[in-house]
Amino acid sequence: MNKWEKYLFLHGEKQIRSMLPQTRLMTADHLQELLQKHGSIILKPIDGSGGRGILLVTSAENDRSLVQITLTRQTAANHELFSVLANEIMRDYIPYLNEIDIRQLLAASYIIQQRIPLVEAEDRPFDIRVMVQRKNDSPWTVTGKLAKWAGSGYAITNVNLGAAILPVETVLERSPLRKHSQKALLSHLDEAALLVARRFQQRFPGIRELGLDMCFDPQGNPWIIEVNFKPHDYLFLALEDQSMYQAIQEYRGKEGEN
Ligand SMILES: Nc1ncnc2c1ncn2[C@@H]1O[C@H](COP(=O)(O)OP(=O)(O)OP(=O)(O)O)[C@@H](O)[C@H]1O
Ligand SMILES: [Mg+2]
Repeated sequence: MNKWEKYLFLHGEKQIRSMLPQTRLMTADHLQELLQKHGSIILKPIDGSGGRGILLVTSAENDRSLVQITLTRQTAANHELFSVLANEIMRDYIPYLNEIDIRQLLAASYIIQQRIPLVEAEDRPFDIRVMVQRKNDSPWTVTGKLAKWAGSGYAITNVNLGAAILPVETVLERSPLRKHSQKALLSHLDEAALLVARRFQQRFPGIRELGLDMCFDPQGNPWIIEVNFKPHDYLFLALEDQSMYQAIQEYRGKEGEN
């Protein structure tokens, strides 16, 4: 499943829907629709890319928008925004394509999403990787959680863009959410992750693990950014405390047994 198919599938479950950023395929109409509605959006390759090819767009004054690509920023007039973004995304192919091809390719290869204001710790946003696993005939369990704390200046939290791995408790303590009950925040994450796991199990009865990228907004509401079917475990090796890494291995090791 690509990001769009996962979104549609999760969206079919009422309890999950309210935690999903609104998502559309990349067309000129959807671009204007989501930008007007949310003021801030994110464009991502439909198949994922470890943070590459991600563009952030924010409404600005005088019918212009601010476009941010990794660490560079530019503005564009709104009536030219779609073609500015198309040029940026399709840069290497533009000379070989006509406008219709470009539009078709974009709608098939990019999604637009409502941008969730990630809560920050010391001016650096963070999101949270939640690992959910199950063994034969045993229920889904959250076996690990860690924070990916964006590299300085970055708005997204991919590790290959300089994000640091920290215990979730540490970043929460350094963020405005320190005023909230940590226990309540974390149990909301767990509940959401378990709902997502059960939902995917309906479609893929054999699945045993998922890695969710989740985040909090500044009000402490949990959001589901994305779901990985083959989550890496090495992120958990970066934590000083290796107990979650070991729990993940233990769950994997029991696979196939009863
Ligand atoms: N809707 C959103 N609102 C705010 N930030 C987002 C949103 N979607 C993604 N991000 C940020 O961008 C990062 C990368 O997004 P995402 O994980 O969807 O793509 P990817 O990493 O390129 O894909 P993959 O993990 O499949 O390689 C997230 O970890 C998060 O920091
Ligand atoms: Mg990702």
